[in-house]
Amino acid sequence: MTTETTAPSQTAESIFTDMHTAYRFTPEEVSDEQLARIYELAKYTPTALNSQPLRITFVRSEAARARLLPLLAEGNRAKSASAPVVAILAADTDFHVHLPVVNPQSQGARERFAANDELRRAMATNNAWLAAGGFILAVRATGLDAGPMGGINAAGIDAEFFAGTSLHTIMVVNIGHVADDGSFPRNPRLGFDQAVSLV
Ligand SMILES: Cc1cc2nc3c(=O)[nH]c(=O)nc-3n(C[C@H](O)[C@H](O)[C@H](O)COP(=O)(O)O)c2cc1C
Repeated sequence: MTTETTAPSQTAESIFTDMHTAYRFTPEEVSDEQLARIYELAKYTPTALNSQPLRITFVRSEAARARLLPLLAEGNRAKSASAPVVAILAADTDFHVHLPVVNPQSQGARERFAANDELRRAMATNNAWLAAGGFILAVRATGLDAGPMGGINAAGIDAEFFAGTSLHTIMVVNIGHVADDGSFPRNPRLGFDQAVSLV
């Protein structure tokens, strides 16, 4: 058991099997402590070279929400409007500046990435998506419900929130407590025999 905070820690069963995508939320607030707890868990998602390119912007104020909502697909706006917090997940193509600290064993990695924009972009994007999966599960592990959404105007969000920076939006995640009728019934998952090979 971690002693970092007293926040609830869900079981693997509840995180993977019981909790699922939320589309409508109760008005119950999400605290700063819960947001901190989400990051404290999500940051341990493994990434290549420990590159950690995921950047998270929690949108909670009315002013910030008013900037974000028009940049979501029309059918997604009501979902985010009902969420107490919406996380913008972005890939930082300047992740490499941290490599000497976060991966001191990998000599010269910072310089290699600095010299290759295409490689840096691919590394940032792939590993930010990987970390986004960990982020969604970290939200659930904190006892909150998550509604990931890719139906967004990513370039518009970049222009509105990240102009002049190295951040590139990949998705948003609505966060809060799911309302009673706030999830759709689960769709089927592929079975072990369909998705898995043992060779
Ligand atoms: C990357 C990603 C993008 C998604 N985009 C949207 C979206 O734009 N709008 C939406 O309503 N749901 C979106 N979803 C929700 C998925 O449809 C949902 O997570 C999936 O069907 C599994 O549902 P379940 O957790 O209830 O089983 C997205 C989920 C992911 C992971």
